[in-house]
Amino acid sequence: MLRIVVCVSGGGTNLQAILDAIDGGKITNTEVIAVISNNPGAKALDRAKAHGIPGMLMSPKSYSDREAFNSAFTEEMCRLAPDLVVLAGFLVRIPEEMVAKFSNRIVNIHPSLIPSFCGVGYYGLKVHEKVLERGAKVTGATVHFVNEGMDEGPIIAQKAVEVLEDDTPEVLQRRVMELAEWILLPQAIDDIANNRLFIEDGRVKRSSGA
Ligand code: GAR
Repeated sequence: MLRIVVCVSGGGTNLQAILDAIDGGKITNTEVIAVISNNPGAKALDRAKAHGIPGMLMSPKSYSDREAFNSAFTEEMCRLAPDLVVLAGFLVRIPEEMVAKFSNRIVNIHPSLIPSFCGVGYYGLKVHEKVLERGAKVTGATVHFVNEGMDEGPIIAQKAVEVLEDDTPEVLQRRVMELAEWILLPQAIDDIANNRLFIEDGRVKRSSGA
């Protein structure tokens, strides 16, 4: 059984997609042992509660400085000792010490086709605003392993989504979630839970026969 901790900051629709996929049997061999939010008002915490999953608050704002937060966050994660950490709309940078302790055991969903529209300053709705500003015709989502860089770890899966003429950032965000994010993230977790993926030369590969 893959024990996962899901980290969230807001609405938690990706968390919901994970919980629904577990309930519906699309993700197997997986248990969500805790949900961590940096935002006390995150709807994601209500979703966790409704599922009987312990929710925790870990905000940089509650610590004297970033270093103190980073140590406390890493310590808490080590105490929980998940097999996989899932960043499902978590808008806080993962401490390097945590990346080192959970090497190739942290995954993130990003709402664009990496390496486009990613890195510092590209999160949530801002990504879709920049896609529309640039006039891109195609966008999408990416699930990747987390390394020390920002949105730079090995890519697990990507899905393209069309940008339409009259899109607003909100409309585009919703389409990317529905057609890409809510499908890709549960699939990636199921692949990891069932040992279908491995990393070779910094790239994610699929086990033969899987
Ligand atoms: C999602 O679109 C996710 O891809 C994005 O935040 C949103 C969270 O929505 N994550 C990032 O931008 C990370 N760089 P949700 O709380 O409803 O899942």
